[in-house]
Amino acid sequence: MSADVQVPYADLHAQYLSIKHDIDGAIAEVIRSSAFIRGPYVDRFEQEFATSVGVGNCVSCANGTDALYIAMSALGLAAGDEVITTAHSWISTSEAITQAGGRVVFCDTDRDTYTIDVTRLESLLTSRTVGVIPVHLAGQPADMDAIMAFAHRHGLWVIEDCAQAHLARYKERQVGTFGAAATFSFYPGKNLGAMGDAGAVVTNDPALARRMAIFARHGGLQKGEHEIEGINSRLDGLQAAVLSVKLRHLPDWTIMRQRIAARYDELLGEVDGIGTPVLAADREHVYHLYIIRHERRDALAAHLKTAGVQTSINYPIALPFLPAYRRFGHVPADFPNAHANQSRILSLPLFAEMTERQVMHTVESIRSFCR
Ligand SMILES: Cc1ncc(COP(=O)(O)O)c(C=O)c1O
Repeated sequence: MSADVQVPYADLHAQYLSIKHDIDGAIAEVIRSSAFIRGPYVDRFEQEFATSVGVGNCVSCANGTDALYIAMSALGLAAGDEVITTAHSWISTSEAITQAGGRVVFCDTDRDTYTIDVTRLESLLTSRTVGVIPVHLAGQPADMDAIMAFAHRHGLWVIEDCAQAHLARYKERQVGTFGAAATFSFYPGKNLGAMGDAGAVVTNDPALARRMAIFARHGGLQKGEHEIEGINSRLDGLQAAVLSVKLRHLPDWTIMRQRIAARYDELLGEVDGIGTPVLAADREHVYHLYIIRHERRDALAAHLKTAGVQTSINYPIALPFLPAYRRFGHVPADFPNAHANQSRILSLPLFAEMTERQVMHTVESIRSFCR
């Protein structure tokens, strides 16, 4: 095991260097034209992104959390309305429900895929349920057939949280095309990341797109004409120009991520005590995260840190058990899978520019722990 190899969890600088000429040119162009807020770069990116997802409309905004808030507000979420979402995600998914006036109803995750456990959905339904927010966690699509069937049966809307799943596919169909709307984050470390905060919500419904754009822009599309009270949530011109450049590389970067994930699968599959990601049937995983499981996760993470390998835990406390949701009084038995996974999961370094040497060093460091 060569201790001189350092493996960062992600390497945004390496990505920048690989496309430096185009990024620098795009930023210079925005500065030259002073198109900082809205303008042609934002319009262009919205069109390009809608096309890449395969939907009719994209409303850009300041971040992926706002995207959820905007979508729910435009769908008319009312005080006391219940929204079912997954127990294991980043807090944006659930906090946006509360911000929009709704009540969060957590659903346990599938033990192996970490996405919402569709077998539990019916048991969470009440007369107040209005919608479902599945998260394509780590880059693996949730079981969209089951979720859409549940939603249709009960007249609910679905918002797909695609923050970690750009270009992922369920039965050959791209995520973001199933629900009433789908939200994306372009946080710098995401598979498609800006150079700051950025987000978007997409939909095939032009009327919903219009309501979302109005809400995100102070309640009006024309300056001085406010149809409603809204918020100020903008994608800026610099981020839009950066995202347009990066979007062109996203398919290749996704393939590179999938190759590294396949290499990890191959090399770690037989290692004693390591659980590698489980891919459900008919899903194309884009590996925003490569999550392994181990009974002694914290000791493994400490060992890897000593070996120069950075890891991350996504997420160490499942949402219902966070102090933020103490008011619900949930106990581990309410969400057995999320509870069991939260202490075992570990995300390994994975980025398109990762070298074979870095992959091997990570694998060898894990092997030396498991021996
Ligand atoms: C699953 C999920 N939803 C929502 C978000 C929110 O995105 P942002 O950080 O852009 O607000 C994130 C980003 O971390 C996420 O991972």
